[in-house]
Amino acid sequence: MKVSVALSPLADLRAAIRVATFPTLKAVWANPTLLFRPASLSRVFFGAVWVAFAKPTDEGGRGPKLSLLPHATGTVLDLGAGLGHSVGYFDRKAVKVYVALEPNEMMHAGIRERANAAGYHEEDGSLLILRPCGAEDLASIKAQLDGAGVRVDTLVSLLTLCSIPNPQQTLTRLVREILAPGGQLLFYEHVRSPLRDVAWWQGLWTPVWRVAFDGCCLDRPTHVWVAEMTDVNVATGESIGMWSEQKLWGKEGEPDEHLFWHRVGRFVKHSG
Ligand SMILES: C[S@@+](CC[C@H](N)C(=O)[O-])C[C@H]1O[C@@H](n2cnc3c(N)ncnc32)[C@H](O)[C@@H]1O
Repeated sequence: MKVSVALSPLADLRAAIRVATFPTLKAVWANPTLLFRPASLSRVFFGAVWVAFAKPTDEGGRGPKLSLLPHATGTVLDLGAGLGHSVGYFDRKAVKVYVALEPNEMMHAGIRERANAAGYHEEDGSLLILRPCGAEDLASIKAQLDGAGVRVDTLVSLLTLCSIPNPQQTLTRLVREILAPGGQLLFYEHVRSPLRDVAWWQGLWTPVWRVAFDGCCLDRPTHVWVAEMTDVNVATGESIGMWSEQKLWGKEGEPDEHLFWHRVGRFVKHSG
């Protein structure tokens, strides 16, 4: 494996430190208790990184998103919505309600701005920005969705499943308990590489990367977990396959030897 590929996260880390150090120090000055709350500090740091890099990252993922997000229909729940870049890819006639789940409240104004520009508004119920919670906070998500009287037809995750805690359990519960029968899971994620040397470097970088970037792990085989997901037949208690349809593809032009190796997936839940 090329040394330049193995060490590529160094350049990203340097760029992140350049853009996020000053805003992070400012936040610590305003609230020194952040120094004793590493997870919150990492969130502030990542928030500043994302303000600078969300647009180029969106542009870099335009191809996969154009092949994926026009499939979204009905009510969409966007896990880790960031600054709301997904909303511009939806077919406004097919996606009636956009629900954004974003634990980092610093990003909510950006979500609102982009959603409004795409024709989604809180006033008419077509936009719902959940009170800050993580994808793992199922009780809070359910309560907020029930309160708004919506059911989720499409679950979207763009570059977020790398960051959620207990990813396999969290995602399985989201699909089982929140996604409607016949609904879709649409994802675009960087995942663990099938190449052993690339996967080794992903594992090596992850402990550093996750501290700087709000829990982001480079070494999760998310696409495999999704494909293997099962449900429970309520009548018999037996384990059954979760999906009635599944399609997995890559990012065009992306080399196999890449620490950020992407998979794109459209999975349709069985209809009950
Ligand atoms: C790399 S950004 C991607 C943002 C957006 N999906 C996009 O593609 O533009 C990852 C997002 O996941 C969010 N995130 C971090 N931990 C999370 C959690 N536990 N549950 C849901 N989202 C989380 C971050 O705040 C961040 O907005």
